[in-house]
Amino acid sequence: LKSVHDVELSCRRLLIRADLNVPMKNGVVADATRIERFAAGLKPLLANGARAVVLSHLGRPDGMPRPELSLEPVAAALGRALGKDVAFCEVVSGPVAEKAAAALGPGDVLVCENLRFDPREEANDASLAEELAALGDLYVNDAFSCAHRAHASTVAITEHLPAVAGPLMLAEISALTQALDAPLRPAVALVGGAKVSSKIDLLINLVGKVDAVVVGGGMANTFLAANGLPVGKSLHEPAQFETVRKILARAQDCGCEIVLPVDIVWTDRFESGAEAHVAELDHCPEYGMILDAGPRSIERIWDIFAGAKTILWNGPLGAFEIEPFDHATEAVAVEAARLTRAGQVRSIAGGGDTVAALNAAGVTDDFTYVSTAGGAFLEWIEGKELPGVSVLKAPQLV
Ligand code: 3PG
Repeated sequence: LKSVHDVELSCRRLLIRADLNVPMKNGVVADATRIERFAAGLKPLLANGARAVVLSHLGRPDGMPRPELSLEPVAAALGRALGKDVAFCEVVSGPVAEKAAAALGPGDVLVCENLRFDPREEANDASLAEELAALGDLYVNDAFSCAHRAHASTVAITEHLPAVAGPLMLAEISALTQALDAPLRPAVALVGGAKVSSKIDLLINLVGKVDAVVVGGGMANTFLAANGLPVGKSLHEPAQFETVRKILARAQDCGCEIVLPVDIVWTDRFESGAEAHVAELDHCPEYGMILDAGPRSIERIWDIFAGAKTILWNGPLGAFEIEPFDHATEAVAVEAARLTRAGQVRSIAGGGDTVAALNAAGVTDDFTYVSTAGGAFLEWIEGKELPGVSVLKAPQLV
């Protein structure tokens, strides 16, 4: 990929697609991680004299201006992260935005309004791409987490400006490529989350690439039930039993070990503080729901980690948002962090819930790499081409 680091920046006006789609609470940025990660890469570009016009979406306003989804407070937060004033333009594109972009001096930053206030963004529309292109002279895609969307600001724009990858885009691609395509072995993937049906492609791709896949969360219930074990009222998907068998067969063909829980934690209420019962696999009562992996399962995962060189993690192992069912997720996160600090493994994690669980366990900074991406991270692990990355692969005249 051609990168922004290959370009002399002092006289360039960069049109940078960032992902400033951050959680907001009452008009205030609730988690600035994405802003901070973007700002860290932007700072050196500004120091080299670049002028930056920053584009992003926020939420899903469906092509209509929605004041509560304005990027204005996010632009202010970006200013705080950069330690400098950031201008804000109340429109997405057009003459007002062009004037604001033309007024930028070296090192200045302008953020334009939420791209998705314009219905042409999600339609990957050429006329919006042309209007956006008028705001800069080099397009920089720094939003790996939006690369699975073929939108005007990620795909059509590349028909109108030379296109390069930004610092965060490069960091994400390099970390994920290393973890998935050339991992230090043995490589272990932890796949949790609620449903097998949303992660079939991911599991199929992973079993061909890593040495062991630890299945956790609600997904594990479907695997246990497919093996004839009782799961009571637990979330599980009988319609996926056949798929589960296919995944198990493929894993066997590929020499990949599928690691399932060896004990369970069940309860009768999906509630914080509900009584947790540790039980053998065949002891989930009819009225019980399995909300976490048991202590022997945790030890089993620790053992597997002890022999691993790469850990790739997506999806919590239990109902991590309610205590005490966050225990397995936390215990496994803490151990992965410890091994990473000791230099024994490379640990890579991604996905909204996973990152929230690592934050709750206080170990995010210990991981080798934590992706800012949710959907794009999943699609990458599924082995799909991301349209926003594909277009950057074409030869570029910068
Ligand atoms: C994300 O949060 O994963 C990206 O910003 C993409 O958002 P979207 O799912 O609304 O396209």
